[in-house]
Amino acid sequence: MSELTDKLKKDIESFKINSREELEHFRLTYLSKKGRVSSLLGKIGSIAAEERKLFGQKVNAVKKLAHDKLEEAEQRLHKSQKTSRKATDDISLPASSLSLGVAHPLSQTLTRIKDVFYRLGFSIADGPEVEDDFHNFTALNFPPEHPARDMQDTFFIKKSDAPNTDDLVLRTHTSPVQIRLMKNGTPPFRSIMPGRVYRNESITAKSYCLFHQVEGLYVDKNVSLAELKDTLIMFVEMIYGEGVRYRIRPSFFPFTEPSLEMDIWWGDDETGKWLEILGAGMVHPNVLQSVGVDPEEYRGFAFGMGVERIAMLFYGIDDIRLLYDNDLRFLQQFQ
Ligand code: DAH
Repeated sequence: MSELTDKLKKDIESFKINSREELEHFRLTYLSKKGRVSSLLGKIGSIAAEERKLFGQKVNAVKKLAHDKLEEAEQRLHKSQKTSRKATDDISLPASSLSLGVAHPLSQTLTRIKDVFYRLGFSIADGPEVEDDFHNFTALNFPPEHPARDMQDTFFIKKSDAPNTDDLVLRTHTSPVQIRLMKNGTPPFRSIMPGRVYRNESITAKSYCLFHQVEGLYVDKNVSLAELKDTLIMFVEMIYGEGVRYRIRPSFFPFTEPSLEMDIWWGDDETGKWLEILGAGMVHPNVLQSVGVDPEEYRGFAFGMGVERIAMLFYGIDDIRLLYDNDLRFLQQFQ
C-alpha cells in the first residue's frame, strides 16, 4: 500500500500553485471530502490489520503535507496580491502618472483676466443671459429702429402668451449687466462682468454663435479717458507681457462717447496683422441718465472684451471652433 501514499506524496509535492484558481484546484483535488487524501484514508478498512497503523501514519503525514502546502500557498498569494508586484517589477521606477483633467483654455484665460482686475480693485457682477430689449439695447442708448441695433445679429426669443416676453433676446453682449449693476446700486461702481453672449452669425474660424465677454465699468466723480487708457494698457501688459504690441483707435458705440477699440498684433512683423480684442469708451450721459445716475455729477468708463480672442492670441489658436469641439487632443495641450 505504500506505493499509493508515495504516489500521492509525489503528486502533492509537484503540484504548482501560482494563482487563486490553482489553489482552489489543489484544495479540491487533495483536501476536500471527496479528495484524494480522504479517499485513500477510506481504504484503511481493506488493509491488513498489521499494516493499518503504518498506513494511517503515512496518510496522515501526506495529509499534513497537503495542508502545509495549502497554507504556504495561501500566504504567498495573499502577500503578492497586496503588493500586486511581480518579481520582474522594478520598484525604483517612477509611478505611472495619473491623468488629471485641467481647466479649459477659456476658463484659464478668464481666470487670468479676473486676476488682473482684482488687482486693480474691480469686483465681479453678473446678469442673465436672456435679456429684455430695455437692458440689451434701449438703456444702452440704442434708439428703437436705429441701425446700430444691426451691429449685433440678435437671437430673438419667440413671443409667447406669457406676460412681458415679447421683447426677450439672448443677450448680444455683456453691456446690459452695466445697466443692472447701476440700477441696483449707488455710485461709485467698479466691477467686471464676465459672461456668455450670443450672436446669430454663421460659424467660421473667426466667429461662433456664442462666445464670452468680460464687461468692465468704472463710474465715479472724476473718471477720465486717460485713466481708461492706462487701465487698458496695464491690462494687455499684464496678460501678454510688457513688450506686447497694441494700438488704440477711435470707434463708435451708442453707449460710449468717445468710443475706442484696442487691437493686438498677431503674428510676426511682416506677415502679422492687427486683431481687435476690446471696445471701450466713456459712458454716454444718456446711459447714466437711463439708470438714474446724474451725468453732471458722475462720469465713467466702460469696456467689453472678447475672451475667445484674448485666449486665441495668448495661446496662438487660429480657429475659434477648436475652443468648442472638446477634442481631447486639443485640450490636453493646456496642462
Ligand atoms: N458691447 C460691445 C460689443 O459687444 C463691446 C463694448 C464696447 C463694451 C464699448 C463696452 C464699451 O462696455 O464701452 O461689441
